[in-house]
Amino acid sequence: MSVDIDQRPIILTGDRTTGPLHLGHYAGSLKNRVALQHSHRQYLLLADCQALTDNASDPAKVRRNVLEVALDYLAVGIDPTETTICVQSGLPALAELTLLYLNFVTVARLERNPTIKDEIQVRGFGRDIPAGFLCYPAAQAADITGFKATVVPVGEDQAPLIEQTNEVVRRLNRQIGRDVLPEAQALIPSVGRLPGIDGRAKMSKSQGNAIPLSATPDEIRDAVRRMYTDPNHLRAADPGTVEGNVVFTYLDAFDEDRTTLEELKARYRRGGLGDVVVKRRLEEILQALLAPIRERRAALEKDPCHVLDLLRAGTMAAREKTQATLDDIRSGLGLFSFEQPENRLAS
Ligand code: TRP
Repeated sequence: MSVDIDQRPIILTGDRTTGPLHLGHYAGSLKNRVALQHSHRQYLLLADCQALTDNASDPAKVRRNVLEVALDYLAVGIDPTETTICVQSGLPALAELTLLYLNFVTVARLERNPTIKDEIQVRGFGRDIPAGFLCYPAAQAADITGFKATVVPVGEDQAPLIEQTNEVVRRLNRQIGRDVLPEAQALIPSVGRLPGIDGRAKMSKSQGNAIPLSATPDEIRDAVRRMYTDPNHLRAADPGTVEGNVVFTYLDAFDEDRTTLEELKARYRRGGLGDVVVKRRLEEILQALLAPIRERRAALEKDPCHVLDLLRAGTMAAREKTQATLDDIRSGLGLFSFEQPENRLAS
């Protein structure tokens, strides 16, 4: 029997493989993942099955982006010797856990999940909600508990999913009569969600208001130029508003020099500071942040076989981990097993 000597708390988080990751992902979660990967036992899930729940008509896109997202992980500094990167569709135990968990959530509760409600709106499903989509919170609970994770670094839009995961955990533990599964805590950055460059609430590739992590220097410059500021701040001399001003929201997220940033805000509010100057500062910061990420990604792209080998090894390791959890749940619930003596007919 192998003894698990790694005492570090377990992280599980992941991303749908629907497109390359952007700055919103970086501020919301990737930065935390890079920082925590040494103090935690971290697993990252390339959630291709979850991606299918709203992309069933384009599985090719979902497949293509498995490698793209993996490249983004490695480019931002995920260290594959510390973090296990795995592919969701390669982990059948998660699908089995999902099937079992669906009996411990109600349709009404799924429909009430604020993230689901919101996403149904945005996607315009109307009454034609794919069943897999409505039920993906149960699958996400399987992802998190399959690894027995206690820490989940995510953007704030994911908080209701962690909450629902913990409800499933409590119901299962109560049913089984002991704490087979741990509850998990969402780790959400204090800066809040990064808006799109147009000022809309969320950065999203499909809305064309995102800055991808692989953006070229020209794309970065162009995005900052187009960025939404204070529409009433017409002349540099006018007093301006910092709240809801995307350039300042981004500076809040990425400018490490807090003192200078606070001074800039004060000057902007007072009047006498033009948008061009603030944008120049942000552009410099973003160029410096993204240049090494872009370069590392370009180097990794030259050797996709190496990345595939990493994913294969990571998925195999994750298979063991998640299968062990499935075994715990199956035996905890007392499902039929050929190995159990009580299945023999009483004579
Ligand atoms: N729902 C997440 C997203 O849309 C992706 C995801 C899948 C996830 N499984 C997860 C996040 C488990 C955290 C934990 O980006």
